Amino acid sequence: MTILTIATQPIAGQKPGTSGLRKKTRVFMGRHYLENFVQAVFDVVGCQGKTFVLGGDGRYFNDRAAQVILRMAAAQGAARVIVGQGALLSTPAASHLIRLNATDGGLIMSASHNPGGPDEDFGIKFNMPNGGPAPEAVTEAMFARTASLSEYRILEVQDVDLGSIGRKTLGGMIVDVVDPVSDYAALMESLFDFAAIRAMFAGGFRMRMDSMCAITGPYAREILENRLGAAPGTVVNGTPLPDFGGMHPDPNPTWAKALMDEMFGADAPDFGAASDGDGDRNMVVGRGIYVSPSDSLAVLAANAHLAPGYAKGLAGVARSMPTSAAADRVAAALGIASFETPTGWKFFGNLLDAGKATLCGEESFGTGSDHVREKDGLWAVLLWLNILAVRKQSVREILEAHWAQFGRNYYSRHDFEAIPTDKADAMMAALRGKLASLPGTAVEGMLVEAADDFAYTDPVDGSVSLKQGVRVLFQGGSRFVMRLSGTGTEGATLRLYLERYAPGPKGLGEDPQAALAPIIRAAHEIAVIEGFTGRNAPDVVT
Ligand code: G1P
Ligand code: ZN
Repeated sequence: MTILTIATQPIAGQKPGTSGLRKKTRVFMGRHYLENFVQAVFDVVGCQGKTFVLGGDGRYFNDRAAQVILRMAAAQGAARVIVGQGALLSTPAASHLIRLNATDGGLIMSASHNPGGPDEDFGIKFNMPNGGPAPEAVTEAMFARTASLSEYRILEVQDVDLGSIGRKTLGGMIVDVVDPVSDYAALMESLFDFAAIRAMFAGGFRMRMDSMCAITGPYAREILENRLGAAPGTVVNGTPLPDFGGMHPDPNPTWAKALMDEMFGADAPDFGAASDGDGDRNMVVGRGIYVSPSDSLAVLAANAHLAPGYAKGLAGVARSMPTSAAADRVAAALGIASFETPTGWKFFGNLLDAGKATLCGEESFGTGSDHVREKDGLWAVLLWLNILAVRKQSVREILEAHWAQFGRNYYSRHDFEAIPTDKADAMMAALRGKLASLPGTAVEGMLVEAADDFAYTDPVDGSVSLKQGVRVLFQGGSRFVMRLSGTGTEGATLRLYLERYAPGPKGLGEDPQAALAPIIRAAHEIAVIEGFTGRNAPDVVT
């Protein structure tokens, strides 16, 4: 077999973020595009004698990209690559395999919750030996390398068979094709009380899991239906398809509307859940009641000790700044540490590695723990099931008891999409400029207690992240937060996060939008959203 050295030249714009390099699939399929980026990754992390994990969420081009990556790894002298059968692995399962096998990292092919297909999105992400996404210094080095390389190396060889499990070779490199599900399922079985959950299903408990034609289908079928005895057909949209069946695999009330309709309809099952393209996000719904991700994190923190894997209690709970403070109230009651980090899963990594936090979560449908170094959709679903099985109460009963004990943090996020970037920047600049003058003023009858631009000092390595979002706090624990998305693809996306705290069991009714109305008005007034952007209503409400 010959190692080909192919002359190439830098391709502009191959800048990976912490969720990797994401582009249109056709861009990735362009001449040398994938190869250049993979060469840059291998040049930065080194390949000789190393072992990696490889898999993806099954979207269009996943299978072809896997063969290219394997041929390139072999050409650079990698010792071994562990690949999910069919080149499939969910993001949390890849994180687990990296850790379980103590590998030198892994490559995950996914564009997360973005649609897939020849005209949609593709992506590649490198994860470190701890199982977590490459930090900025590493992704910056990869980006720098894409700007200077002049050749890539690839083995001239036929495809390796990824359809059957077992050990193969590719040149001098070992390719271990593994079942994508079994090690992950074993990890879940070590954390949760499968016997109790099995008994609950045997007792007639009904669930709907919408895998949105993405990667969690095989995982959910094996764990929920085969191992836990959920009725066949519990998992819907359970076969990963290259175009996700045309679905937008983002588990929120907008994109998982069929699930929402079922959970709020006649004869709704006891519990509903959905996950995203690569399996790291989750949405949970009870019969006739939606669980906001912020509330989910708080309920999981308050009840995690009911699961064997967390029976010893939690070291701490971490949430991203825009996530509601509901989890903080639980942490305070438990007497454990709580952490408030900037948006993005990467900020949890140090806290988890250092044993400071056990559970973490974001309002953007991400929840996880120290069992891997990614958020984990099915893990959250299983922890909920474990809690439901032990408490023998409905989702509604659990939520209502939680709110009665801790008070309720009404919460919503309003997204304003595709705003011209200059207008969005001008709005944020003007808002930042008036922060100092806000405290002590009354808006919509509410007193502003504090206003700042969130800055974070990592308690483990001391690194400082500035300008992570503007927050305006009102007396009584209500607030709004504004920041511009770091993952949007068209113009700027303004995210307006709204929170209103209602102490005691009475609450402010069922509808968060109604409860949040004064905060919404105050945010529009203070930030002059319509004046700068021309928009007075959001495109997406979660
Ligand atoms: C969004 C979410 C954020 C999440 C990220 C990656 O980022 O808001 O919580 O970590 O996707 O899944 P944003 O577009 O807001 O920068
Ligand atoms: Zn994802």
